Amino acid sequence: MRQILVAGNWKMNGSNAANQELIDGIVAGVPDGDGFQLLVCPPLPYLAVVAASATGSGVAVGAQNVSEHEAGAYTGETSAAMLKDVGCEYVIVGHSERRALYAESSAQVAAKFVAAQAGGLAPILCVGETLEEREAGTTESVIDEQLDAVLDAAGVAAFDSAVIAYEPVWAIGTGMTASPEQAQDVHRHIRERVAAKDAAVAAKVQILYGGSMKGENAPGLLSMQDIDGGLIGGASLKASDFLAIADAAAGN
Ligand code: 13P
Repeated sequence: MRQILVAGNWKMNGSNAANQELIDGIVAGVPDGDGFQLLVCPPLPYLAVVAASATGSGVAVGAQNVSEHEAGAYTGETSAAMLKDVGCEYVIVGHSERRALYAESSAQVAAKFVAAQAGGLAPILCVGETLEEREAGTTESVIDEQLDAVLDAAGVAAFDSAVIAYEPVWAIGTGMTASPEQAQDVHRHIRERVAAKDAAVAAKVQILYGGSMKGENAPGLLSMQDIDGGLIGGASLKASDFLAIADAAAGN
């Protein structure tokens, strides 16, 4: 039985005051139960302070990006070991915004995935197609390319301590959610692709859905067999919105 992971990607939002209020609100409202894990991914400058506020609450902290390098002359970059040092357990790699706006290739994403694990973090590998790719019928081949780059670089066993997030680009920040069936089809495909390499790893790996997930659509999405949680943007910026999804994960 896979645990449900409810992860908030705060993206480039907030301030000291706003993020403190947000983490305090989340910590105060963690639902009872043990079949789920909550995770918040604040912007880099707030990681340590949010991690300190979350200590002992059961809410884990992750980063939104990581360098593929271990250390050295990489101005402006942050290593996995540094993120771990300030309290992170997870890091998002390959978010579509980084692929599209910062030209991150699948090979670079794979290198970041490997670096994250070497530094003791669980990577959350994002994959997903654009609207044009979906309409052209290439959803599965786009995802295969993104997934295979990491399977080839890291090996399937690496997915024993990693998470996959399916985020259709057309559903991110648009209010246009994939239907539970649409998402389930892709999640099943991803799991089958991992299973072709190692069935036991595939059965265990958490596959999150991301793209306009909120309290109202979370129960339907989370009820699908291969959807093991959510990676949430907009609805992770208000404690009550995020906790509504947490409640759905807790079965309330
Ligand atoms: P939204 O929930 O705002 O659509 O964002 C999803 C996302 O990109 C999470 O990483």
